[in-house]
Amino acid sequence: MKSLVSILALCFLGIIGTEAAGRNLKDVISLPSQRFQQPYRTGYHFQPPNNWMNDPNGPMLYEGVYHFFYQYNPYAATFGDVIIWGHAVSYDLVNWIHLDPAIYPTHEADSKSCWSGSATILPGNIPMMLYTGSDSKSRQVQDLAWPKNLSDPFLREWVKYEHNPIITPPDGVKDDCFRDPSTAWKGPDGLWRMVVGADRDNNGMAYVYQSTDFKTWTRYDHPLSSAEATGTWECPDFYPVPLNSTNGLDTSTYSGSVMHVMKAGFQGHDWYTIGTYSPDRENFLPQNGLRLSGSNLDLRYDYGNFYASKSFFDDSKNRRVLWGWIPESDSQEDDIEKGWAGLQSFPRAVWIDRSGSQLIQWPVEEIETLRQNEVKLENKKLDSASPVYEIQGITASQADVTISFKLEGLTIEDTEHLDTTSADPQALCTERGASSKGAFGPFGLLAMASKDREEQTAIFFRVFYDQKIKRYSVLMCSDLSRSTVRSNIDTTSYGAFVDIDLQNNNEISLRNLIDHSIIESFGEEGKTCITSRVYPKFAYNEDAHLFAFNNGTRSVTISKMSAWSMKDAEFVIDQTVKSAA
Ligand SMILES: *[C@@H]1O[C@H](CO)[C@@H](O)[C@H](O)[C@H]1NC(C)=O
Ligand SMILES: *[C@@H]1O[C@H](CO)[C@@H](O)[C@H](O)[C@H]1NC(C)=O
Ligand SMILES: *[C@@H]1O[C@H](CO)[C@@H](O)[C@H](O)[C@H]1NC(C)=O
Repeated sequence: MKSLVSILALCFLGIIGTEAAGRNLKDVISLPSQRFQQPYRTGYHFQPPNNWMNDPNGPMLYEGVYHFFYQYNPYAATFGDVIIWGHAVSYDLVNWIHLDPAIYPTHEADSKSCWSGSATILPGNIPMMLYTGSDSKSRQVQDLAWPKNLSDPFLREWVKYEHNPIITPPDGVKDDCFRDPSTAWKGPDGLWRMVVGADRDNNGMAYVYQSTDFKTWTRYDHPLSSAEATGTWECPDFYPVPLNSTNGLDTSTYSGSVMHVMKAGFQGHDWYTIGTYSPDRENFLPQNGLRLSGSNLDLRYDYGNFYASKSFFDDSKNRRVLWGWIPESDSQEDDIEKGWAGLQSFPRAVWIDRSGSQLIQWPVEEIETLRQNEVKLENKKLDSASPVYEIQGITASQADVTISFKLEGLTIEDTEHLDTTSADPQALCTERGASSKGAFGPFGLLAMASKDREEQTAIFFRVFYDQKIKRYSVLMCSDLSRSTVRSNIDTTSYGAFVDIDLQNNNEISLRNLIDHSIIESFGEEGKTCITSRVYPKFAYNEDAHLFAFNNGTRSVTISKMSAWSMKDAEFVIDQTVKSAA
């Protein structure tokens, strides 16, 4: 299982001399050795050795090394008074080397905390970090930092711009409602632009700032995007996507067959809209008039537990890669006992669907290096005589599973009818979980299940016919109501519709990344994503099981399935970390 020795060594070394914010971590952290034998620690999702982690920050590729920074409380497993930038590097987005924290309070302009920000690579291959500082008066101001030594491939040390802050809250924006600068992009006029999340009288927005030299920034008079009554927009992201291609683009690309994605986090979710961007007037026009308002019609990256995401362009593979913070859904007391809180999603490639109306997300291909012991299945019928099939031969608590269901005999008459335009998919999944029989569906997987299935997390589909639009609609759910028999766990169910044309193709696919306390689910090749956190009392490690199931009255057939055990990703400490301390 996990390499306890290396993780413990890592924690121990990590403590030595990591002096952030003037306090010594050695005095604050003591690690019981059984911490890493606990059931909810993951095998291949990114986690620091201990303590609290939230937003991903400044992801980038520099000289063949992936850099990942994250919001980190060096002192506790809870969101704390001081948040700094943790730092790790990787050659493959799978295995990681933990480094010392990169950015932490040192100056007036970030003396209380160093909050979220983004990387921009300037011409000449010079990384620049824009981030939010909480200054000595707890104002949210925007700061600039860059690597001290560009010859160090790990970019261990960062220096702050002497004239920080570069931007202070504009008039009408409260001091604590102005944060999270995006990656900057260059327009055809040679000016740099970036957006910062803000709130004016409870209306959320992304303000655009422009600069010639990356140091002096001027606010453009109107925001790039805004919406009423959403509260502060957090972690705005703005980037181009090429039509009819799975490739990504450099953030400064604006011409050709290109659409732009505007993403903002508010009310606990990451919302996005696709539209056209005119840099001359800083005008972003969402297609179909869909603005980011937090309504059921708006698109989300993920309909489960996923927030504060950030993307970057990986020019080594011409792709855009997305990271998202996956918070805990156990109690704060549990987090303190575990000694850690917060995961990152497995990095996802993101591109625009052929329809042009939504994004597709898919775990980066490097994840396949962790796969082993493939188990396959074809043409297995699930009906009321045999509604459940156990998938055996893999470690069900640490797995990658792809499965396709074929709906033979699908007819409009036999399908449940629903007016989908007025439906709330999450409410539907809550009312009608895996135990609520339908016609076609619920069918899907039971992950992190106990042998007797008293504990189970059901990720499933349910098929409806919508008379109004004359189309089948597919609902995807993650039913957490039976995910644990423990109390004080948030077991809210999640749900969303999947845009799939069942009239022409009666097959639906599902991929699940299962990793102890996280299940990332990708419906229909990444069209709809739902991430869940689970804390089973019994169904963990070797006692976790995996089943396919069908609780509908109509039969469905597993047309094909491949499941793999997943190896542990390697998380090691940089040998040179603060030997100088
Ligand atoms: C910069 O990093 C390189 C590579 O690690 C190292 O050889 C060099 O000594 C560093 N320079 C300074 C000034 O620290
Ligand atoms: C993308 O492909 C679709 C169909 O394959 C086509 O109708 C559309 O014109 C293409 N768009 C672009 C910008 O090439
Ligand atoms: C199917 O539904 C029945 C009740 O209708 C329930 O007892 C059973 O647990 C359900 N199966 C699954 C896999 O949830």
